[in-house]
Formats: sequence, structure tokens, C-alpha cells
Amino acid sequence: MLIVLSVGGSILAKEIKPDSFLGYADVLKELSKEHRLVVVTGGGAAARDYINVARSTGANEVVCDYIGIDITRLNARLLISALGDAAYPEPPKDYKQAQEALSSGKIVVMGGVIPGQTTDAVGAILTEYLRADLLVIPTSVDGVYSADPRKDPKAVKYETMTAKQLVNTVMTTEMKAGSKSPVDPLAAKIIERCNIETIVMEGSDPQNVLNVILQESKAGEKKGVFLGTRIVG
Ligand code: UTP
Repeated sequence: MLIVLSVGGSILAKEIKPDSFLGYADVLKELSKEHRLVVVTGGGAAARDYINVARSTGANEVVCDYIGIDITRLNARLLISALGDAAYPEPPKDYKQAQEALSSGKIVVMGGVIPGQTTDAVGAILTEYLRADLLVIPTSVDGVYSADPRKDPKAVKYETMTAKQLVNTVMTTEMKAGSKSPVDPLAAKIIERCNIETIVMEGSDPQNVLNVILQESKAGEKKGVFLGTRIVG
């Protein structure tokens, strides 16, 4: 299968330490024995710190987005470094470059592309453009909830949901640079428009991501606990 992973910066780069990059690199190398992979890296805490300082010094939201993109690309470079020879050496800067890089047969790793979106949208657009089979969004929350569980104690988690439900759930999300939501509104709309099979899952342990993807590709083999939401149809 061709799989696009949009790995949230909140897990890959919560703090900039080697372990999370090396842990994901091991899992990606394992997955690449059976699957072709394109990985989009988020910005994490560093992106938020840089964006907050930029905003406080007078930068507008588009400038903040460009700063966020730069940080996502730095995280892509760190993951490329952790992958060594298994990775395409440069993070593609757009979707066409990603397609070209994929023909190398290596794992392709990239960050953001243009202002006004997050790396989840990059992942969704790439999935459609490359005709990938699956979009996996490992993030710091264990799935998509009916409301923000940090603010609303009545919020319930969806085990599965339709893309339409996803759109309705995330449409109230703020669109500012550095905003937090398990899936951003543009990504949700692309997932709906293109009917993309998507998994949003808790990904702080990359082994869990490995197990869920292997489970997905070999029907019947159940390993580990699935903490996430499947978006279908
Ligand atoms: P993300 O919001 O995608 O990274 O990019 P993140 O930190 O991984 O988010 P979580 O952990 O999944 O919640 C950081 C910022 O970079 C800009 C946006 O401002 C975004 O908030 N960005 C990223 C863009 O403007 N365009 C892109 O294509 C990607």
C-alpha cells in the first residue's frame, strides 16, 4: 500500500529530543519493508513558540504561517537524519516534488507547503494527489471527540465517523497559525471531498502506529490497542 502519515509535531517534536525521531524512524523503516511511505512532520512546541514570538512582535498570520512551515521542515530534516539511507535526502517543498521524490523508492519526508493550513491538510492533499491508499494521523489525542474534551466533560469519542461528521465537528476550530485540533478544517474538507480512508490515532508510542497499520493491511491480525478514530465514507 501507499500510505501517507501526518505525524503531529505534538508527539514527534513535543520537545526536540532524539528519541522520538529515532523511535519513529525505526517504525517507518519496518513499515517500508511492505509499504511505500510519505511522511509529513508537524511543527510541535517550537513552531508554537516561534509563532507566538512573531505575533507578539507584530507579524501577521501569514508571516506566522511561514515561520510554522520553516519549523515543520526542520522537523522533517531531523526525521530524515534519523532515517539515514532509508529516506529521500531532501524534504519536498510541494506536492509535485513529493511525487518525484517518491519515484526514488525511498521514504519521503516533508513539512508544510503554503500558509493558511496545517500539516494535516498537506497529508490529506498528498493522499489524494498521490492516490495513496490510507492517511494516518498520529497525534497527541486518542481520536476525534464530539467537542473539545479539555473544555467539555460531556464530549464523547467517535470510534468511527463519516467524513461529513468530521467536517461538522472540526468546523468551529480556530484557523490561526499554530491552532490546535486533532484535524484541521481544511484537512477535514479534503477528506470529505476525496473520500479518503483516514485513521486519527494516539501516536506517542510509534509501535502502536506500526501495529495499527499492519493490522489494517493484514485483515484479521489484531495486535495492540487501537486508540483512535476511523473516518469512513
Ligand atoms: P502544524 O500545525 O501542522 O504542526 O504546523 P503541529 O504542531 O504538528 O500541529 P499538531 O501537533 O498536529 O497539533 C505548525 C504551523 O505551521 C503552519 C501553521 O501555522 C501551523 O499551525 N503551516 C503548516 C502552514 O501555514 N502551512 C502548512 O502547509 C503547514
